This record gives sequence, C-alpha cells and structure tokens, in this order.
Amino acid sequence: MLKLLVMHHIAILSASVRTGRNSHRVALYFNKFIGERNLASTEIVDLQEYNFPLFHERLQYLESPAEEVLDFAKRIRSADGVIIVTPEYNGGYPASLKNVIDLLTNDWRRKPVAISTSSDGSFGGTQVITSLQFSLWKIKTWTVPAMFPVPKVNVTFNDEGIPIDKEATDKRATAFVNELLWCIEAKKLMENK
Ligand SMILES: Cc1cc2nc3c(=O)[nH]c(=O)nc-3n(C[C@H](O)[C@H](O)[C@H](O)COP(=O)(O)O)c2cc1C
Repeated sequence: MLKLLVMHHIAILSASVRTGRNSHRVALYFNKFIGERNLASTEIVDLQEYNFPLFHERLQYLESPAEEVLDFAKRIRSADGVIIVTPEYNGGYPASLKNVIDLLTNDWRRKPVAISTSSDGSFGGTQVITSLQFSLWKIKTWTVPAMFPVPKVNVTFNDEGIPIDKEATDKRATAFVNELLWCIEAKKLMENK
C-alpha cells in the first residue's frame, strides 16, 4: 500500500530561564538531531526568550493577553508533538514550566509530549519525571513512554548542543524521538478515522 509521507512538526520547549543555563544545550541538540535526519520540522520554543511573568489565570480567562502569550500558545497548539527539555530543580521541575503548563491547561489535552530531563548531577534529573508526568496526566496530556535523562549536562554537551559521546547520545535520541513520532502518527490515524 502506498504510504504518504507527512512531515510532522515538533516544538522543543526549553524550560530553563536561568542565566547561564545548561539544559538548553539539550534543546539545541534535539533541534539539530531531528533536522539533520529530516524526521520532522522543528522549532525551539524558548521560555528564557519569552521571559513571561507569573500568570494569574489560564489563557482562556485572560482578558487581554499580550502578543507574546498568544504567540507562545499558537506555537504549542500547532505542534503535532512537543519535546519538553527541563532541568531538575530541587527534585522537581522549574516554576517557569509550571507557569506555561497551567497557562495552556486545555491545550495540552492529547498532545503527544516527550520529556527530557537534565541536571548537573549523576541522575540526569530523573526525579522530575514523577511530578511532571503527574501534572501532565492530570490535564490529559499524552506523555510518551520514553525517557531522555541527561546527567552532568554541563560537561556532556557543549554550548552548541554537541554531545561528547555522539554515537551513544544519537542512539538514545533515536529511540526517544521514534517513540514520540509513533504517538504522533497514532494520534493522526485516530483523528482521520
Ligand atoms: C534552584 C535550583 C535547584 C537545583 N536542584 C537540583 C537538584 O535537585 N538536583 C540536581 O542534580 N541538580 C540541581 N540543580 C542544578 C541543575 O541541575 C543545573 O543547573 C543544570 O545545569 C540544569 O539546570 P539549568 O538548565 O538551569 O542549567 C539545581 C539548580 C537550581 C538553579
């Protein structure tokens, strides 16, 4: 049977807004990794660039949301899938990320989302998974069953997002991104039934 190849679009949400952040290196890496292999079109949605205030309400109830808030919402809504690249702060995910998860509450429903965690410690931010998964599950996000923890992110990736062990990193990234693409495909099949 002839299978039409459709290019999916993946938004890479970089969650750290910290000056001198390191987890953004992983966002740069995914952008390049996916782009070079033509697996999907991509864009980095960078919370540091947006520099959002703390939202007091969900977007649907904001009276006159700022342009950049609408722009952010549009980019997440129009993505077929999202890779969240988040650091671990005190065993959880940063306030900057919770801020935008709550902002778009309903828009996360059934959105295929893959989670990549980072830390400068040895465990790669894996403690984030339980709290982040739970928040996303609560709003019916489709979190894909794949992990991409990055230990010692300050040394395992350089500023441009190049990993020191490219072969092993690419192998892990292949499995991670394939899982996300599978879920994106599955969702599209259901929507086109
Ligand atoms: C407020 C704060 C809390 C942190 N808590 C942890 C932690 O619980 N475990 C850990 O391994 N690293 C922790 N770190 C270090 C981060 O893992 C490190 O900064 C890493 O580079 C990822 O965050 P970044 O993208 O903001 O740089 C913390 C950093 C900050 C700023």
